[in-house]
Formats: sequence, structure tokens, C-alpha cells
Amino acid sequence: MKKTIILGLESSCDETAAAIVADGWEVLSSVIASQGKIHEKYGGVVPEIAARAHIENLLPVLHEALDRSGVTAGQMDAVAVAACPGLTPSLIIAVTAAKTLAWAWSKPLIAVNHIHSHLQAVMLDTDQDCFPAVALVVSGGHTSLYSCRHPLELKLLGSTRDDAAGEAFDKVAMILKLPYPGGPSIEKAARTGNPKAFHFTRSYLEKDSLDFSFSGLKTAVLYHCRGQNMLGEDRVPQMTAQEIADIAASFQAAVVDVLIRKILLAARRLQAKTILLGGGVAANSALREQLQTACDREHLKLIVAEKKYCTDNAAMVAGLAWHKLQAGLTADLYLGPHASHADL
Ligand code: KG4
Ligand code: ZN
Repeated sequence: MKKTIILGLESSCDETAAAIVADGWEVLSSVIASQGKIHEKYGGVVPEIAARAHIENLLPVLHEALDRSGVTAGQMDAVAVAACPGLTPSLIIAVTAAKTLAWAWSKPLIAVNHIHSHLQAVMLDTDQDCFPAVALVVSGGHTSLYSCRHPLELKLLGSTRDDAAGEAFDKVAMILKLPYPGGPSIEKAARTGNPKAFHFTRSYLEKDSLDFSFSGLKTAVLYHCRGQNMLGEDRVPQMTAQEIADIAASFQAAVVDVLIRKILLAARRLQAKTILLGGGVAANSALREQLQTACDREHLKLIVAEKKYCTDNAAMVAGLAWHKLQAGLTADLYLGPHASHADL
């Protein structure tokens, strides 16, 4: 049977990505241009600078994705784009490119929600059965727990009330003067640290709440380094590498504990048998390993996105778009960033 081939584009934050995916899961090519180095000196993504870099990166990334896949424009069945949420100046670039290609190639245009597409990442390169499931998307902008029956049937169970988990990793890395992006730096430092060296309080919110809160944890690390109420001097420059590693490991342990506790609570409440995990923070080895141990103990099947599909990419966009195309959920050329048609 002829495969349905979709081009996906993604530029919601600081990764410019293009991918070509067949039937929603078979990745024919996935190309990503990361802007990490450009934003490093600012300690975070600067939207205006990100948008300019997307403009420069988009065509080379698109051409490489087409070349690597061997697919021609004529063989493409649709063009998909992550249209929300994200930084508006960044989103506009891939949205405009996708509209232009859909118009020039006379193909359907599909708008997807970036967070929902992070869950599709667990299904890439594998055709295993993932549903029904409890799913967590844990990224730089979101910490969202869902009940899902199908890629297009997601029910939000809880989300962060303040910082996303990835944002907490990034901010704590800044406090510890570790390189941007913070998640991988904290993970690296934590490898030689003692996760029990310091006890940073875990915030579980109200009993049975499926929401998250990480800003208190970030502040606890800040007070640890600067003294109560920030009145002390910044101790980090005087700290040994071991002290920094111990703080990184203790912080990471606190985040992992909270994420696992909430996932298991949701799984018990919904009597779920399968857990899905996606988003940039899902690349964290401590989280992956400890969640696997917890799921084995609770007889739950865990499906985690491959590391290369955890952080932003366009394969997940093309993957989710395949389900939308099957359901006839296409967008028109008036599509703009943050468009409501990108939601399910
Ligand atoms: O999904 P993503 O690429 O972009 C958003 O949609 O936000 O996630 C980026 C986030 C950043 O906060 C980054 O620090 C975090 O994911 N991250 C990690 C790791 N790799 C990336 N956090 C913890 N451990 C990692 N290995
Ligand atoms: Zn993302």
C-alpha cells in the first residue's frame, strides 16, 4: 500500500527543524539546526535573534531533509507545521514557510500543537501500541500530564503552576554558572555528585493534586547558594566542583522524585497500564532510569521517546500531522502562529 508522506517543519523556540515521515512513525529524515551557541551568552532564548536565525537556517535544513529522504515534492502528501505554542517571532518563520510550500505544491496544510507533538515522539521509529496511556510532556516550557486514548484524544490532568521542569533546570544551571542549556549541564555535573548531599524540599501541592510546582525548588537552590533572602554573597565562585556536583545531583533528584510521584498517582487513579514520556527533560538519564524502575515495580509499561526525539524536532510534528490528515483536520492558508486549529 502506498505510504502517506508528510513534511514537518518546526521553529517554535530555538531549533529550526525539518523532517519527512511516512505513515506517522517511519522517519525518512530529520534535520535540526540548533541555536544553542547563539543564545548561550544571554542565558536564554532571545526571540528576535531566534527568529532571524530561523530565517537563515530554514532553507538549508529543508533541503537537507529532502535530500536525505530521497523524497521529491511531488511525492509529498501534506505539509505540516507546529503552529502553537511557542515564541511568536519564531513560530511565524516555519508557519510562513509551510503555508508557502503547501500553496506552491498544492498540498494540504496541517497545523499541530507543539506540546502534543512531543508525545508523538514516543511513537517514532516504532509501531508499538501505545494507548490508552498516562502521558507526561516535560520540556522547557511545559510540564503537562495527560490521559490519552489516541494521539488526537488527550485530556489534560495537570500542569505546572509556575516554572516548567526544564525551565527549573535552566535557571538552576544559571545559578550554578553551568553552561546553557541547563538540562544537559546539570545532568553532566550530577553524574559525579551525591543526590542525597542536600535535601531540597519537594513540592507536591495539595494531596492528590496532579499539578506541578518547581519555582520553590529553584528558589531553595538559590538561597542555598546566596544565603536566606539573597542577602549573602554568591558562594558559587568559591565552591569546589564537588559541591556544585552535589547541588546539581540533589536538585535533579528532587525534580525526578516529583515527576515520578505524579505519574504514578495519575496511573493509579486512571488504572492505566502504559506510561508515555516525551519532551526535552525526558532526555535526562536519571529520570529515564528511575521511572523505568518505578514502572517495573508497579507493573506498568513505559514508553519513552528516543533521546534524539526528546528535544525539539520536526519528525514529531510530521508524525502527529499524519493522524490529523487521517481525521481530515487540515488548516487553510490564513493560518497564523497560535492558531486555534492547531489544537485538537
Ligand atoms: O522540548 P524542548 O527541546 O523545548 C521545549 O519545548 O521547551 O526542551 C528543552 C528543555 C530545556 O529546558 C533543556 O534544559 C531541557 O529540555 N533538557 C534537559 C535535558 N536535555 C534537555 N533537562 C534535563 N536533562 C537533560 N538531559
Ligand atoms: Zn518542545
